[in-house]
Amino acid sequence: MKTIGDVAVEGRCVLVRADLNVPLDNGRVADDGRIRASLPTLTELTGRGARVVVCAHLGRPGGHEDLRYSLTPVAARLAQLLGREVSFPGDITGQAARAAIAAAGPGDVVMLENLRFNQAETSKDDMSRGYFADELASPADLYVADGFGAMHRRHASVYDVPLRMISVAGYLVQAEVAALRRLTAEIRRPYVVVLGGATVADKFDAFGSLIARADRILVGGAMAFPFLAARGLKTGTSLFEASQVDAAARYLERAAPGQIELPSDLVVAPGMTAGAPHQVVPADAIPADQMGLDIGPESAARFAAAIGAAGTVFWNGPMGVFELAPYAAGTEAVGQAMTSGGAFTVVGGGDTGAAIRALGFDEKTFGHVSTGGGASLEFIQGRTLPGLAALDAS
Ligand code: 3PG
Ligand code: MG
Repeated sequence: MKTIGDVAVEGRCVLVRADLNVPLDNGRVADDGRIRASLPTLTELTGRGARVVVCAHLGRPGGHEDLRYSLTPVAARLAQLLGREVSFPGDITGQAARAAIAAAGPGDVVMLENLRFNQAETSKDDMSRGYFADELASPADLYVADGFGAMHRRHASVYDVPLRMISVAGYLVQAEVAALRRLTAEIRRPYVVVLGGATVADKFDAFGSLIARADRILVGGAMAFPFLAARGLKTGTSLFEASQVDAAARYLERAAPGQIELPSDLVVAPGMTAGAPHQVVPADAIPADQMGLDIGPESAARFAAAIGAAGTVFWNGPMGVFELAPYAAGTEAVGQAMTSGGAFTVVGGGDTGAAIRALGFDEKTFGHVSTGGGASLEFIQGRTLPGLAALDAS
């Protein structure tokens, strides 16, 4: 893979696709992990006198301008972290963006507005994406792929732009690929995968290939409920998609006995609030009017033991609603087990990365903290990420 170390950038206009899709809280950046992860490439490029244009998405605004998803607060945080001005023209390919790029000198940084304000960015139509990609590419001499978390998306800025111009990987993408490769070949076993989180639909079909690759798959978070339901257990008012129960049943059938481990107890409450009365119940005794919000202590201990005995661990998705103190223990136990064992450990995903930081873990105590959730999960299944496929081979 060619990287920014292999190309001349001085005085050139470099378009950097970053993943700055960070959580916001009342218009402020709640976790700046992905912005920080983008700094090595941006600092290097400005230091070498490139004219840097950063493009990124935020959330899923649905193809039209929606200022709740503006990158304005992200540009401000980036400027703070870089210690230099970031020009933010407030559009993507229009007059204001053109003018800001034209005015940028060596070492200057321009950040474009949320790419997903244009419906062409995520369009399934090649022509529509291609036209937008032409516009994005036109002021730039060179493309740098550094938005690892979005590289599994066949989007204009991720896939079509690099096909049109000299395109290399940034340092973040280089580091991600180097670390995640250790989970695709010559894996140190036992290989344990921990899956959780709330966005079950995005990750569910990973089970098919993970059953073939991992020795054990520990399932927590909302991800556990379709499986518990498939086992015939009553899941109360727990949140999950009923349509996934059949698929879960097939995965359980296909897996070796004990290969997929489900919670045996849960922390339940009538609703998703910190103040609600909560209790620990066995997984087969969830009250009809309550929902599971974390794995229980017995499950946490079992998961921790499996992680402790592992050679390699990949973890994507919190075990419960860790943002609320009564439901953080499961996620904390998994993090604790990962950082105290001898395994090569990888944490994948914006949410999971934010969870370990919020719970006070030091990122350096993990083998690798990936900025990509869906992207890292696809990578470790051996799938080709469109954004990587589009880069120039060295
Ligand atoms: C992420 O947050 O996982 C990446 O930024 C990709 O965002 P997406 O899932 O909305 O495509
Ligand atoms: Mg995501």
